[in-house]
Amino acid sequence: MLFKARSAAVYGIDAHIIDVEVDFSGVVMDKEIFNTVGLPDAAVRESRDRVRSAIKNSGFDIPPTRITINLAPADIKKEGSGFDLPIAIGILGAYGALHNKDISNFLLVGELGLDGTLRAVQGMLPIAIAAREKGIKNLVIPASNAREAAVVEGVDVYPVHSLSEVRELLNSASLGAITATPLRVEAASLLDELEHFPYDFKDVRGQQVAKRALEVAAAGGHNILMIGPPGSGKTMLAKRLPSILAPLRFEEALETTKIHSVAGVLDSDRGLVTHRPFRSPHHTISDAGLIGGGMIPRPGEVSLAHNGLLFLDELPEFPRNVLEVLRQPLEDGTVTISRAAMSLSFPARFMLAAAMNPCPCGYFNDKSRECMCTPPMIQRYVSKVSGPLLDRIDIHIEVPAVQYKELRGGSAAEGSAEIRTRVLAARERQHARFALPRHGEPERTKGSPRAASKPIFSNSQMNTQQIRTHCELNSDAERLLERAMQQQGLSARAHDRILKVARTIADLGGEQDIAVKHIAEAIQYRTLDRSYWA
Ligand SMILES: Nc1ncnc2c1ncn2[C@@H]1O[C@H](COP(=O)(O)OP(=O)(O)O)[C@@H](O)[C@H]1O
Ligand SMILES: [Mg+2]
Repeated sequence: MLFKARSAAVYGIDAHIIDVEVDFSGVVMDKEIFNTVGLPDAAVRESRDRVRSAIKNSGFDIPPTRITINLAPADIKKEGSGFDLPIAIGILGAYGALHNKDISNFLLVGELGLDGTLRAVQGMLPIAIAAREKGIKNLVIPASNAREAAVVEGVDVYPVHSLSEVRELLNSASLGAITATPLRVEAASLLDELEHFPYDFKDVRGQQVAKRALEVAAAGGHNILMIGPPGSGKTMLAKRLPSILAPLRFEEALETTKIHSVAGVLDSDRGLVTHRPFRSPHHTISDAGLIGGGMIPRPGEVSLAHNGLLFLDELPEFPRNVLEVLRQPLEDGTVTISRAAMSLSFPARFMLAAAMNPCPCGYFNDKSRECMCTPPMIQRYVSKVSGPLLDRIDIHIEVPAVQYKELRGGSAAEGSAEIRTRVLAARERQHARFALPRHGEPERTKGSPRAASKPIFSNSQMNTQQIRTHCELNSDAERLLERAMQQQGLSARAHDRILKVARTIADLGGEQDIAVKHIAEAIQYRTLDRSYWA
């Protein structure tokens, strides 16, 4: 008897529904023969041995015949071990070991151990989303994957532990009532939990300029580079950046969770990424590790940082080719990975924070210690960070060593919670500015680019036209910017970055118009590269 089970294959960060059809010939032989058709990869082919043992060790006696397994549609690339369960259930169904005639309302995914227990597979969140889109109501999946699937509303997720348990569940469904209870996760409320951060800005003494710059960066989603001698607190400051970022919105959390789910790095107790990710890969990382890659492309650090923060400490220590691959995601918010087999895109919209010493010894420009480096050495060192990469970083600041007096000073520093309140207020202003016009509302005037371009959420994401619309300058501010451009030879790209940062500074001040002081501060954040890279 031909029997059909439904399952799903993950492709990039999306999943497709796959039908698993099983049939067998009536002739009993010495040993059963599996035929798999429909583009199965090596992992699917390997599954036959696990499936065979799992069925036997779950107490089912299957007479040996020729078994044909078809995975359809054939043109979708299938990989991974998640087809074990639907194949095993398909075989049981074909041999009449199930009461059910039709299980098309069930989606089955899971790897089988030889003893018939179920193991987690990657990408369960996109699979649950695909099930909902296709109107498949019930998801039967390994218990250790259940939470990530259960954040999706509109599907019932049944966590199961073994092949026999799945059979019992399906049999109970054939009698008209499923005996198991689906897992419920109130996903949206996970995000409301009080956020806890391990590091707080109140621990950082002095460093007012750096803290201010980080606040501006957090408020507008701007990339930031910190330069200073060893021990000045750059790493310490960066680790505190997550504590002042706006909380994740639910749609953002889903997007980021999908990526973590596909990469297999999701915390199975939570099921949903509830905080903006903070990724800080070491400088020994490969370009595939950073950008993504592999035979079947997997997301890299830039995608794991999607909707969060990518921190690159000791920036010049990263190999140049690794740094260069950052340019595409910094520009487009996505990465494309091309392999012989396929080409895939992953989202990669993150805020970049980077830190570096000014020279090999670390003490160039330091007040208290002498620098041992020659000018060519310094030049060679900083030029590892290329002009185009530098250009994509909105804010550059110097982080000098803190003086002893300040370090020991009595007055307590401002804490993250207070800074974050201001960041959130500035974010609110940006949301109001970039909100899509609601249904029935007339489109705003001034050739608004809203309708045409994709939605944006922060000042850093403005395109040239949006900059023109939202960053108008009065004549004084215009003159100041013009003079700075001429005197410091700033590029057109730097010009746009200054305007965006000035917009954020005005938003932090709660001001509608960009004033001279906002432009002046924004220019300061672009002048450092002159002294090091000129
Ligand atoms: N402004 C500061 N306030 C308090 N402690 C500081 C400060 N700057 C540095 N420190 C101390 O020095 C240590 C080294 O700082 P770190 O962030 O690693 O420096 P860097 O990354 O610039 O080399 C920190 O862990 C912290 O204990
Ligand atoms: Mg450091």
